Amino acid sequence: MKLPLLLLVTLSLALLSFANPVALYPRQNATGASVGSPCASVSSLVSGQSAAASPTVPAGVAYECIKSVPINKTSALLLLQDIKPYINWQSTVAYLKDPPAEYVDKIQPAWDVWAELDKLETKVRNDTYSGEYDFGWDLYTTFQRTHDGHFVYVPDSVGGVFTWGRPVSIVSISEDGKELPKPFVYTDILAASFPNSTYTPSAISEIDGVAVDDYLESWSQFGSLQDRDALFNNVFYNLAQVQLGESGAATGTFSGGGRGRWVYPGAYTTLTFVNGSTHTFENFAISLYSFRGVQNGSDVADKYFYFNEGQTASAMAKAQDEAKVQVDADKTSSKRTRSTPAPGYPEPVEFANDNSIAGYYIDEDEYSDVAVLAVAAFGGDIYPDTFQSVGTDFIAKAKQANKTKLIIDVSANGGGTILLGYDLFKQLFPSILPYGATRFRAHEAFDLIGQKFSWVAREYPRTEDAVSSNLTGLDVVPSAFNYRTDVDIDYKNFESWPEKFGPHAYHDDNFTSIIRWNMSDTMNYFNGGINITGYENRSNFTAQPFQATDIVIITDGYCASTCTIFSELMRQQGNVTTIAFGGRSQYGAMQAVGGVKGTNNFYWQDIKYWAREAYELANHEEQVKWNQSFEDNYRSYVPMNRAAQSPGVNVRDGIRQGDETNTPLQFVYEEADCRIFYTAEMTLDVSAIWKAAADSKWGTISSCVAGIGSVDASSATDSGARVKAAVAKKGKIDPALLDSLKLYTNQNKVYKGEGFMTP
Ligand SMILES: *[C@@H]1O[C@H](CO)[C@@H](O)[C@H](O)[C@H]1NC(C)=O
Ligand SMILES: *[C@@H]1O[C@H](CO)[C@@H](O)[C@H](O)[C@H]1NC(C)=O
Ligand SMILES: *[C@@H]1O[C@H](CO)[C@@H](O)[C@H](O)[C@H]1NC(C)=O
Ligand SMILES: *[C@@H]1O[C@H](CO)[C@@H](O)[C@H](O)[C@H]1NC(C)=O
Ligand SMILES: *[C@@H]1O[C@H](CO)[C@@H](O)[C@H](O)[C@H]1NC(C)=O
Ligand SMILES: *[C@@H]1O[C@H](CO)[C@@H](O)[C@H](O)[C@H]1NC(C)=O
Ligand SMILES: *[C@@H]1O[C@H](CO)[C@@H](O)[C@H](O)[C@H]1NC(C)=O
Ligand SMILES: *[C@@H]1O[C@H](CO)[C@@H](O)[C@H](O)[C@H]1NC(C)=O
Ligand SMILES: *[C@@H]1O[C@H](CO)[C@@H](O)[C@H](O)[C@H]1NC(C)=O
Ligand SMILES: *[C@@H]1O[C@H](CO)[C@@H](O)[C@H](O)[C@H]1NC(C)=O
Ligand SMILES: *[C@@H]1O[C@H](CO)[C@@H](O)[C@H](O)[C@H]1NC(C)=O
Ligand SMILES: *[C@@H]1O[C@H](CO)[C@@H](O)[C@H](O)[C@H]1NC(C)=O
Repeated sequence: MKLPLLLLVTLSLALLSFANPVALYPRQNATGASVGSPCASVSSLVSGQSAAASPTVPAGVAYECIKSVPINKTSALLLLQDIKPYINWQSTVAYLKDPPAEYVDKIQPAWDVWAELDKLETKVRNDTYSGEYDFGWDLYTTFQRTHDGHFVYVPDSVGGVFTWGRPVSIVSISEDGKELPKPFVYTDILAASFPNSTYTPSAISEIDGVAVDDYLESWSQFGSLQDRDALFNNVFYNLAQVQLGESGAATGTFSGGGRGRWVYPGAYTTLTFVNGSTHTFENFAISLYSFRGVQNGSDVADKYFYFNEGQTASAMAKAQDEAKVQVDADKTSSKRTRSTPAPGYPEPVEFANDNSIAGYYIDEDEYSDVAVLAVAAFGGDIYPDTFQSVGTDFIAKAKQANKTKLIIDVSANGGGTILLGYDLFKQLFPSILPYGATRFRAHEAFDLIGQKFSWVAREYPRTEDAVSSNLTGLDVVPSAFNYRTDVDIDYKNFESWPEKFGPHAYHDDNFTSIIRWNMSDTMNYFNGGINITGYENRSNFTAQPFQATDIVIITDGYCASTCTIFSELMRQQGNVTTIAFGGRSQYGAMQAVGGVKGTNNFYWQDIKYWAREAYELANHEEQVKWNQSFEDNYRSYVPMNRAAQSPGVNVRDGIRQGDETNTPLQFVYEEADCRIFYTAEMTLDVSAIWKAAADSKWGTISSCVAGIGSVDASSATDSGARVKAAVAKKGKIDPALLDSLKLYTNQNKVYKGEGFMTP
């Protein structure tokens, strides 16, 4: 292992966190007797802990506890029934069942959601499940295996009582940027790169006795993304995710970040290293409840699950109430203080304090012409106009400072506000009208709400004043259910709801007409919180700040939702090239965009609310007619009461300009222009990533292992020398890197862990 060899200070960092594999709890009594029951053990373990951090218990005892919760068959059947109306909104169900061949070959297998739900129902009726957890897990994976980050249902039993983790974070790195990447324990890399370290870490060869690549590739499949290389990256510690704090994937899914928190990792994990040594450590569960007075699995169901159809506080809301923690997601317009640490990042030139957007220069002469705009989310815990102005101010400063090259780093970007994606594109290409075609699935509920909202909206002048003073107006006028809100494929207004609704048949299903966002719509403020650059009070932005060839987008594959809207515009209309980092341990190309390419998600409770509102706005005759088919379907609160977090569906497909087949972009495979392996330095100092990108795109040294200017791996030269020298110059490891390893467990906050979603 050739690391920046900076000689020895301490090795105590290495494997600090390996606990002895001893059981800390009474073994489960197989008869399930109350004394010494696993849930009683959880109760006593949690009560002994301070309020400072999230309470953790050994994963094994938590698992036995959650497995001992008996199934409520009546409620399970009700749940399976009541989620069906929401599945109708999912735009990709027909394509998931029968995907294009290239998607099956390179991305994911087919998955028939309706058939899987039927199988689940049969199993519940057959008493196949004795416990809530096994049923909940099958229901969770029925959604998760679509690999659509917008389509998510997390049952109470899966995500509402415990979340899981391992006390170790790992990274996958290539020793010289050319050799195939191998996984290492991250604290080993930290120890080795400590000043004066002579320590040489060894790669992991097996996990729990399984060859490491096989183990990690199959573990990675529990993620939300569709692309296999992007899923693989998401397993590991990644500086871009870490800087998102409790909104990102923390230290990677292997250690319980992101979707990793909902997957039981076993009671223990055993790592075998290439040097032959082995370490076994105990995995943990975070308890989201106090477990006060809980004696057994039935108590967990009684206290923490909500079986009724009526409106009750959701399990998650209760959890937050009862647990020792409070979410503090107050929006703030301040961009002065950086409230979330960004270890491994240099001092920003401009930034939003949640790190969703920040601009940097690279502090070295060779890169003095390069500016970096890191966009980790399209808005988060900040106001949209703050997000917009950070971008605007940074671009202006970079121009003034004579920067001619722009790297846009969208690593870890799980999306955000749709119109902020359009706006950033317009800031960079003010003269291009974004194409951005979308369509909904055309089904009865969508049609009825659209008819009603479009009808009611006719009374309102389409002005901010008229709408903001009237609650109904606020709901119906700026909505996608109002045909006046957006424009057709030719960027012309729709004349009527039926013209917008269609339906048009593709792939054995029905869809609306192509719908595009109207950049100058007077209601954009209500949908995006900003005026889009090029319009209204931003119509004086007319100069393109950077040539297309002077811009490059870099990703870790984790580009989802609004990020995919933005990168599609940049790639297809801006002609900007992309570089993808990391991926599986193999040569060959990688996709730059590996997350959900659906262009809008809805939360189920919003659908429920709109259905109710349309019903209330209807006349009596319509109500009588709708009762059977429509309003009844959205009456039940069971799907919300049984969920650990807001369930969602993907409601819009993105369609590429000129695609005669109208295939949703979710099912279109597209390679990045260049692929670069991560090196050790890139896991310590993000500017190593930016320098490799700048060199490969504009310099003479390419790090591309596939794509433009790619280097033949067999003739690998040490192109990372400059980068290593830079780490050496720093002379010390940022202590925040060490702190960040506790990101998932030591939050004293509810870990949100999903990245941001397109509202
Ligand atoms: C389990 O509990 C039952 C009832 O309390 C008891 O009879 C039995 O001996 C226990 N078994 C073990 C293995 O502790
Ligand atoms: C099971 O669920 C049903 C229907 O939701 C509910 O009425 C009943 O009380 C629940 N049973 C138990 C034991 O909680
Ligand atoms: C459910 O029971 C039916 C009838 O006993 C049987 O045909 C079927 O195979 C069972 N299905 C499952 C999934 O157990
Ligand atoms: C690292 O090594 C250099 C030269 O050998 C020495 O001067 C320096 O004190 C060492 N630093 C630490 C932190 O041990
Ligand atoms: C083997 O490598 C692991 C991981 O780097 C390290 O913890 C361990 O100390 C090494 N064992 C020996 C005998 O060098
Ligand atoms: C679970 O414990 C409660 C007391 O907390 C008790 O009333 C109940 O009977 C127990 N249930 C089972 C199935 O052991
Ligand atoms: C930018 O370039 C101009 C023209 O070459 C020069 O006058 C100016 O000082 C430069 N600005 C900076 C910040 O380097
Ligand atoms: C606004 O709201 C009021 C009260 O809810 C309602 O009566 C009125 O018709 C609404 N519409 C307009 C266009 O003001
Ligand atoms: C599509 O719409 C037609 C009527 O326009 C209807 O007959 C058909 O059942 C619909 N297909 C699906 C899959 O809903
Ligand atoms: C949008 O621009 C208009 C002027 O065209 C201005 O009145 C309004 O305040 C602007 N809105 C925002 C959110 O900046
Ligand atoms: C556009 O006009 C606004 C307000 O007049 C001004 O602050 C801003 O600097 C101008 N921007 C550009 C790119 O001209
Ligand atoms: C992108 O490429 C197309 C086709 O070569 C060209 O028509 C278009 O002007 C280019 N756009 C930009 C922003 O360079």
